[in-house]
Amino acid sequence: MKTAQTIAEVRQIVSDARTDGATVGFAPTMGGLHEGHLSLIDAARGECDFVVVSIFVNPTQFAPGEDLSTYPRSIETDLAACEARGADLVFIPSVETMYPRQAVTSVTVSQLTETLCGRNRPTHFGGVCTVVAKLFNIVLPDKAFFGRKDYQQLVIVARMVEDLDIPVEIVPCAIIRETDGLAMSTRNQRLSPVNRSQAVALHEALQSAGDQIREFHRPARDIITAMQEYIQANAPNGEIDYIQIIDPQTLQDVETTDRSLLIALAVKFPEARLIDNMLLDSAGQPQ
Ligand code: PAF
Repeated sequence: MKTAQTIAEVRQIVSDARTDGATVGFAPTMGGLHEGHLSLIDAARGECDFVVVSIFVNPTQFAPGEDLSTYPRSIETDLAACEARGADLVFIPSVETMYPRQAVTSVTVSQLTETLCGRNRPTHFGGVCTVVAKLFNIVLPDKAFFGRKDYQQLVIVARMVEDLDIPVEIVPCAIIRETDGLAMSTRNQRLSPVNRSQAVALHEALQSAGDQIREFHRPARDIITAMQEYIQANAPNGEIDYIQIIDPQTLQDVETTDRSLLIALAVKFPEARLIDNMLLDSAGQPQ
């Protein structure tokens, strides 16, 4: 496995791989790698000949007051994990490499960024789209692998790629969960033991919502109220940021549940804001 810190090195190594006929798979990350990230590397390994991982805590997707300075960083163990899972190249740029001067260009995706996480993090997806577009231009992958846990990010990146004709296939990958159901996240490690055990309520609320939809197709409003009550009772240290039931493509709220939909939520614990979701088909079966 190679590592590269500069854009020129990445371009050279990827171009050499392409000359040898390799297809290129890419898993962008911010490090603090867990099994969720490693499953993206596995998927890339399964579908492509040459696998690139990036590790870059992108400052432009954090607003002032968010957790940029405390975001978990673990580069040595991350590199060992990338190597163990068969990555060919890990790109670890510095902030100066990615943003050598005050940029006057950025990528803005409208509408899809204005709901869910975008409501309380209005600058977040602009930072994500801009850095992902830059990384795509540096790595030039055939396929890029994104987890469904960040469902809104996945839809936004896929739309950006379509609208800007970026020649990359976006491959969605399943949510990876801890044995008790909590969706894996780099931020989980910051939770106190009490809040870690309360955080299981997020997945439990989603599961129970899925059951209610499958069996009774109760209206979205009732399902959301039941989820709010469940989380308030079982995760009292968490403050609900949002619970929404939406169309999986447009991300707009839906009222009825006899259709394909996404149930998405974000809950803020004192140490970390957690998100999770569940995608259901029109029969209420998890996808
Ligand atoms: O999902 C993430 O870890 C980040 O938002 C990404 C896609 C690596 C961009 O910084």
